[in-house]
Amino acid sequence: MDYPVWDVAIGGGMLMAWVAVTHVIVSHFAVGGGLLIAVAETLSVRRGDRELRELARRSSLVLILFSTVFGAISGVGIWVVAGLISPAAISALIHNYVWAWAIEWVFFILEIVAALVYYATWDRISRGAHLMVGWLYVVGAYGSLVVINGIVTFMLTPGRWLETRGFWDGFFNPTSWPSVVLRTGIALMMAAVFMVFAALRASPEARPRLLRFLGWWLVAGTLLAHAGYRWWEAALPDGIRRLFLGAEPLLEQLAATRSLTLWAMALTLILAMVFLVGIPRLVRVVPAIFVAAAAFAAFAGYERVREGARKPFLIHDYMFTNGLLVERIGEVDREGVLAVSGWATLAAGEDPVSVGRQVFRVECSPCHTLDGYQGIRRALPTLAGLKAVAGSDAATAETVFRARCLPCHRDSSAAEMRESLPTVAEMDEDPEMMQDLLSGMVTGTLERLRDMGDVYAEAGGFRPVDTRALSHPYMPPCVGTDGELEALAAYLETLRSGGAGEEKGGR
Ligand code: HEC
Ligand code: HEC
Repeated sequence: MDYPVWDVAIGGGMLMAWVAVTHVIVSHFAVGGGLLIAVAETLSVRRGDRELRELARRSSLVLILFSTVFGAISGVGIWVVAGLISPAAISALIHNYVWAWAIEWVFFILEIVAALVYYATWDRISRGAHLMVGWLYVVGAYGSLVVINGIVTFMLTPGRWLETRGFWDGFFNPTSWPSVVLRTGIALMMAAVFMVFAALRASPEARPRLLRFLGWWLVAGTLLAHAGYRWWEAALPDGIRRLFLGAEPLLEQLAATRSLTLWAMALTLILAMVFLVGIPRLVRVVPAIFVAAAAFAAFAGYERVREGARKPFLIHDYMFTNGLLVERIGEVDREGVLAVSGWATLAAGEDPVSVGRQVFRVECSPCHTLDGYQGIRRALPTLAGLKAVAGSDAATAETVFRARCLPCHRDSSAAEMRESLPTVAEMDEDPEMMQDLLSGMVTGTLERLRDMGDVYAEAGGFRPVDTRALSHPYMPPCVGTDGELEALAAYLETLRSGGAGEEKGGR
C-alpha cells in the first residue's frame, strides 16, 4: 500500500513460492544432513565402520556445496523477492525481529565455518576433534532453524503478541513448537533422500547396509513430520482451520493441497519401507529419485498449505496481504487508497476506469492476476454462468453453481437459484436486465468486502477477528473512498465485459 507494486507476469505469490520452495528444500537438507552426517561419523568411530565413515565424508562435500553456495544464493533470492513483493511485511518483521535475525546470522556463521572446517579436516585432525566440529555444525544449523521457525510461525499465529507486542510472545506463539517438530522431521527426510545418492556410490557389499540405515532415518523423519503436522493443524485457531479443513472448506484448492501433502507423506513412508528398508540390494538411481520426489512433494505441499492458510494476512490479524495495516482501515477509508499510495495517484489520472485499475493494483493484485493464477476475470459472474445454472440440465447447473456462484452465495443452493432465476429464454429477451443483475453482483460484492472493514477495524489489530461473520474471510476488506469503490467497480465492469483492462505497465 505504501510501496509501489512490482508486477510479475506469473504473479508475485507464485514467484515467491518457487524461490522459497527451492530454498527450504536446500536449507532443511543443510540442517538434517548435518545431523545425519554427525550421527554417521559418530557411529562409524564407535563401531569401526569404514563404509559408514566414507558415507559421511562423501555427503559432507554435498553438504558444504549446498548449504554455503546454493543455500546462500537462494537465501538472498528470498530476501530480494520478498522485499519486492511485500516490502511492508519485511519492514514490519525487521522492526520486530531485528535481534532474532542478528542471532540467526551468528548461527549461520557458526554453521558455515564449521562446515568448511569439517570438510577440510577429514583425517587431518584427531577423530574426536573432527567429531566435535561436526556436532558444532549441528548446533549452528539447528539453532538457525529454530530462530527462523519462530519468525515464520509468528506470521501465521502471532498469538499474544497482538496484545502485548512483546518479542517473546510472538516468537513462542501457538504454532512454534509443533512447527519445530514438523521441521525437524522434514530436515531428516531431506537429509536421508539426498544421502541415498551418496550411498549408491558405496561398494556393492556395503550399499544395502547404508541404504537401510538411511531408510530407517527416512521412516523416522516422515513419522515425526506427520506427528508435527497433525499437532500444527490442531494448534491452529478455528478461523484458519475453516479455510482448508472440515467437510466444507472455504478454499477448495488449499484443501486439495493439504490432502496431497498427507498422501505424499504416506507415499514417502511406503517407498522408504519397500525400497530402502525392504530391498536395498536392488535400489539404483531411479527408485532413489522416486523416493526423493515423494519427500519433496510432501514438503512443498506443507509449505503451500502454510502460506495459503495465512490468507488474507501477511501477519495474521495485523497486516493484510496487500500491506494494509488493520489499525489503519479507518484512516484509509477517510483519506482514500490513492492518497495513501502516492505512487498510484500519479498513475491513476482522472478517468474512473484508470483510477479503478490503480485501486485494483494496490488492493487486489497481491493475490489476483487478470487471467492467470487466481484470475479475477474468472471469479466474476457471467451471463454464460447464469444461463448454465438456469438451463435444462440440472447436473451441469449443479457443477457450474459450485464452481462459479457458491463462493458468493454460500447460503443458497443450485436448486434455489434455478427457482429464482429467469429462464434462459427470458434472459435472451432482456439482455439489459441481465447486465444490470451482473453489475449489481459486482458492486454488491465490493460493498460486502467493504463492510468487512468494520469488523476488522473494531479489533484494531490488537485482537484476533472472528471471521465466521465475514462474507469473504480469505480476502482483505476493500478500503477507500466511495469514489474509489465506484472506480474499482467500473474497472471490474470492463473486465467482465471482455475488456483487456490492460494498459502499458498495468496488469
Ligand atoms: C489475500 C489475497 C486476496 C486479496 C488481496 C484479494 N482477494 Fe479476492 N480472492 C482471494 C481468494 C483466495 C479467493 C477465492 C479463490 C478460490 O475460491 O479459490 C478470492 C475470490 C475473489 C472473488 C470471487 C468470489 C469469492 O469470494 O470467491 C472476487 C470477486 C474477488 N476475489 C475480488 C477481489 C477484489 C475486488 C479484491 C481487491 C479489492 C480482492 N479480491 C483482493 C484472495 C484475495
Ligand atoms: C463475485 C460474487 C458473485 C458471484 C460469483 C455470483 N454472484 Fe450472484 N450476487 C452477488 C451479490 C453480491 C448479489 C446481491 C446483489 C445486490 O445486493 O444487489 C447477487 C445476487 C444474485 C441474484 C439476485 C437474487 C439474490 O439472490 O439476491 C441472483 C439470482 C444471483 N446472484 C445468481 C447468481 C448465479 C447463478 C451465479 C453463478 C453463475 C452468481 N450469482 C455468481 C454476488 C455474486
